[in-house]
Amino acid sequence: MSPSLTILISGATGLIGKPLCAALQARGHQIRTLSRSKHGDVQWDVDAGRLDAAALNGVDAVIHLAGESVVQRWTAAAKERILQSRVQSTRLLVDAILQQAPGPAFISASGISYYGTDLEAWADESSPMGDGFLAEVTQQWEAAARPLSEAGIRTAFMRTGIVLSGQGGALAKMLTPFRLGVGGRIGNGQQQMSWISLPDLVQAYIFAVENESVCGAINAVAPLPVSNAEFTATLGTILGRPTVFPVPAAIVKMIFGEMGEETVLSNLAVRPQRLTELGFEWQHPELESALLAAIH
Ligand SMILES: NC(=O)c1ccc[n+]([C@@H]2O[C@H](COP(=O)([O-])OP(=O)(O)OC[C@H]3O[C@@H](n4cnc5c(N)ncnc54)[C@H](OP(=O)(O)O)[C@@H]3O)[C@@H](O)[C@H]2O)c1
Repeated sequence: MSPSLTILISGATGLIGKPLCAALQARGHQIRTLSRSKHGDVQWDVDAGRLDAAALNGVDAVIHLAGESVVQRWTAAAKERILQSRVQSTRLLVDAILQQAPGPAFISASGISYYGTDLEAWADESSPMGDGFLAEVTQQWEAAARPLSEAGIRTAFMRTGIVLSGQGGALAKMLTPFRLGVGGRIGNGQQQMSWISLPDLVQAYIFAVENESVCGAINAVAPLPVSNAEFTATLGTILGRPTVFPVPAAIVKMIFGEMGEETVLSNLAVRPQRLTELGFEWQHPELESALLAAIH
């Protein structure tokens, strides 16, 4: 068991943040939440560049989850919010961390979109950055924390796949049509989906916080991706519903535009090389058990 740590966590009110805070507390860690609202123990104003550096006094690690949701129509203003909410917030935390001695470890959310939108082969952490808006966002997001590693402070970027939860995110949005029996594959269904169960992601963050050897890019995905067609069939079987209504790629592009192309239509087979090497154990390595845990 790790010694009790004091952890500052941004985005603690979100899908990942809520169960992560509960799990960290259950392991005996002290949590200090950072929010734009009064729900946080400490408030910050990312747009105005305001964070009281004293918020980090006595903190052993910072977990940075905050960021504007990417699930919205990508107008120019929305894209700017998606980017700046991550880059500016990281810069604020980096400045505050650099004022501490020793500087707390920095564990940040990131995304597998770093690798692009359409991969011909598997990606692992050594793969190059790909194309697309989200690749650019993740690259700038991670680069904003570079002063920390240059100062010798441990930093890790959790390049996260599709998080499976019945409470929010992609799966929760799919549940209603699937339960009504009007679910189906998206596009030709051949695109690879790299996913992770929410409980496994929470454990991966805890592993990263407690384990001094976790640093750099970490692919937070299950060991095996599935095609969208396999995902659709498995979800239909679990729900006991037919999945015979495919959603053509053209419709996705018409309704969701660029956002749809870079999310539900993206083809990303990502391997969790670093987590595997570090000995991380998945509670839900198979899609069926992850979906069952998320839905029931
Ligand atoms: N869920 C996924 O499938 C997934 C996949 C890959 C990567 N990620 C990344 O993991 C992180 C956490 O994901 P999540 O699903 O838990 O996100 P979430 O539920 O949308 O929560 C994100 C939190 O960020 C804060 N926030 C929202 N808009 C903001 C803005 N404009 N400026 C500053 N802070 C803002 C909010 O906290 P306050 O209101 O308390 O400030 C919110 O609770 C995100 O950065 C996301 O990009 C998630």
